[in-house]
Amino acid sequence: MKVDGKHYRTIWLKEGDRNVVQIIDQRHLPHSFVIEDLDTTDKTAAAIGDMHVRGAGLIGATAGYGMYLGALEAAGESTSEGFNATLLKIGEKLKSTRPTAVNLRWAVDRVYNKVKDLKSNSEKIDTALDEARKIADEDASYCRMIGEHGVSLIEEISKRKGGGRVNILTHCNAGWLAFVDYGSATAPVYEAAARGLDVHVWVDETRPWNQGARLTAWELGQQGVAHTIVADNVGGHLMQQGMVDMVIVGTDRTTYTGDVANKIGTYLKALSANDNNLPFYVALPSSTFDWEIRDGVKEIPIEQRGDNEVKWIEGLDEKGKQGRLLLTPESSPAANYAFDVTPSRLVTALITERGICGADEKSVLELYPEKKR
Ligand code: MRU
Repeated sequence: MKVDGKHYRTIWLKEGDRNVVQIIDQRHLPHSFVIEDLDTTDKTAAAIGDMHVRGAGLIGATAGYGMYLGALEAAGESTSEGFNATLLKIGEKLKSTRPTAVNLRWAVDRVYNKVKDLKSNSEKIDTALDEARKIADEDASYCRMIGEHGVSLIEEISKRKGGGRVNILTHCNAGWLAFVDYGSATAPVYEAAARGLDVHVWVDETRPWNQGARLTAWELGQQGVAHTIVADNVGGHLMQQGMVDMVIVGTDRTTYTGDVANKIGTYLKALSANDNNLPFYVALPSSTFDWEIRDGVKEIPIEQRGDNEVKWIEGLDEKGKQGRLLLTPESSPAANYAFDVTPSRLVTALITERGICGADEKSVLELYPEKKR
């Protein structure tokens, strides 16, 4: 997508240097656009864990490139077994950074399985890079396809309103910054805007890290899409007053039975949408399905992050200087649950790269028959 008119992805191999992966360091947005070099797996693990990069799709793509950097680090091993053992350890280090987004595990395993049976180290390294690139390209193209399928839902509402404005509420950032390009929840919105539909997005601020206020608002602004930031508690009121036509969110892990883990607060929006008879859609590429677990509420691990993210807030002061402010009594403890699970019964449908389906086992497996057991 575009930043000041120039096309960017969120991750890429540095031009002219095969040893460096570059990312947009999202901690500095929206106030400054900073590109960071990753040249070790320690830096890559820190970039995921400390949220220089975040969002399920991008976490997966970064893990893919992290495994490539891992292959470079394993190149000193003299046997294939030694190489594999080192790479496996690096994979475990990357996997331990964030527990909820299933794309992380998926990408690490995908690269490892591709290289483990190859003989020479140079073949393993080239293949790891090739697979990391494929993961990133696939992420971008799947998100584009999510946009093409999802736009029909917006078109339907627009038609019903006689071409009037369609108001979409979203939570957190499931935009292009959370993926390699396009985004999941935002892809149908970008496609609708490109087709000339009048769309407007209510952007939940998304405490405590403020992914909505900082990132979704910034990227929608960069693409020229009408939007309004609202505090997290406003959604219910907007829905009651007929100011929301649909909700579209992303997800960090969705069970094949349709339970959806997403940024903390998503469940409350789903309850509110349900009470107001509004459609609640979840957009995801297939890399975000967990094909192993059935019960999202009981089985999806929910990340708990440091209390500093709740107690401190970051931004620009009146003089334009970036800094942090303590919001709370210094000694009060805070809890920072990063995700919650919305049960499938509250999800109207899933928007995937293969099409739109019900949030239930039968519908999901009809779309992905190769996953039937
Ligand atoms: O903690 P984050 O920023 O990595 O979490 C991201 C989210 O939860 C988003 O809501 C998104 O929908 C899932 S990532 C596509």
